[in-house]
Amino acid sequence: MKLLITGTAGFIGSNLVRYLLSTVDDLSIISLDSLEYAGNLITLETIPGGVASERHRFVLGSICDTALVESLVAEGLDGIINLAAHTHVDRAYYHPELFIRNNVEGVLNLLRVAEKCPVGRILQVSTDEVYGAAGPDNPCDENAPLRPGNYYASSKAAADLYISAALNFGTIDAVIVRGTNNFGPWQYPEKLIPLFTRRILRGETLPLYGDGRQMRDWLFVNDFCRAIWLVFTKGVRGQIYNVGAGNHITNAELSRKLVTLLKADPALIRNVADRPGHDFCYAVNWDKIKGLGWTVHTNFDTALAETVAWYRDNPEWVETIMKTSRSNPKDHAFFERHYRNRS
Ligand SMILES: NC(=O)c1ccc[n+]([C@@H]2O[C@H](COP(=O)([O-])OP(=O)(O)OC[C@H]3O[C@@H](n4cnc5c(N)ncnc54)[C@H](O)[C@@H]3O)[C@@H](O)[C@H]2O)c1
Repeated sequence: MKLLITGTAGFIGSNLVRYLLSTVDDLSIISLDSLEYAGNLITLETIPGGVASERHRFVLGSICDTALVESLVAEGLDGIINLAAHTHVDRAYYHPELFIRNNVEGVLNLLRVAEKCPVGRILQVSTDEVYGAAGPDNPCDENAPLRPGNYYASSKAAADLYISAALNFGTIDAVIVRGTNNFGPWQYPEKLIPLFTRRILRGETLPLYGDGRQMRDWLFVNDFCRAIWLVFTKGVRGQIYNVGAGNHITNAELSRKLVTLLKADPALIRNVADRPGHDFCYAVNWDKIKGLGWTVHTNFDTALAETVAWYRDNPEWVETIMKTSRSNPKDHAFFERHYRNRS
């Protein structure tokens, strides 16, 4: 089987490549990534067999590039798993146009190519954020209305809706998975767990948005990778599958857990100006994917401890990512603008 997987130099994509190369025989992967702020080739350097092997090839480029995507499809594919996206909610607030370009037009481009040439199944990796705020007592199933509360979520919801329309034309095969907040190794260090871990290790304060009462359902990335593969191989054409973990915890509680794990002073935690329109909580019902045989395998506290230990023990990776990002003038400007009053 030959797959095009996009966004593989980022967090979930690189974990998915690792997972598939270690567990699925007779699979070869073309990795496509345009190496945006969160994508870095060093994240793929340690995959089984290395970046360039019989089973894995890296291509630098964008899902928005029609000629490039067509040329990769012409090699003969059994499917596309699309993780390529701009993913940081705070960045979407300043530059929503980049999210429309990459997250919406990019997906539309994949669909247009698939309408013309056989690509096998397309699996779109989407998010619980498309449903907007919801509490654990009232979780959203796959038929819940889409009420995105930030520009990142809007772009992901729009992509899902384009897929729905393309399915209606009858020419393509596609499925969608909507995961909750992932955590694990190789995550870009501006996301909460790697950001706070790095700051604790450097003795820096932890900028906790607002009153810290916002809640997320934390899903270990390996569990999500298993879900993606299960839906790709066993999901029903045209269906959407939520993937949750049942690990709701407030950002304040999570910060305290990180401080405890690293034996640091809780006084490092500082409440700072909240993110505009910060959704209080997301919650999904994932009975549908349970029907395919998927369950959470990971204990939250164990996986959190392992994740924190991974960041502590891999400072070269963390610092290389930070250095590359900060050497990019646009990224540097974002950090300056966004965090100046938040630390
Ligand atoms: N992280 C989460 O908690 C979470 C949860 C549910 C769903 N998702 C979805 O999973 C996917 C991956 O998320 P992540 O956390 O790994 O993000 P990430 O930001 O770590 O990685 C995204 C990758 O996509 C690449 N990329 C961006 N635009 C591109 C383009 N036009 N063409 C090719 N590559 C491009 C980036 O360079 C980067 O390597 C995204 O689609 C995201 O919406 C993430």
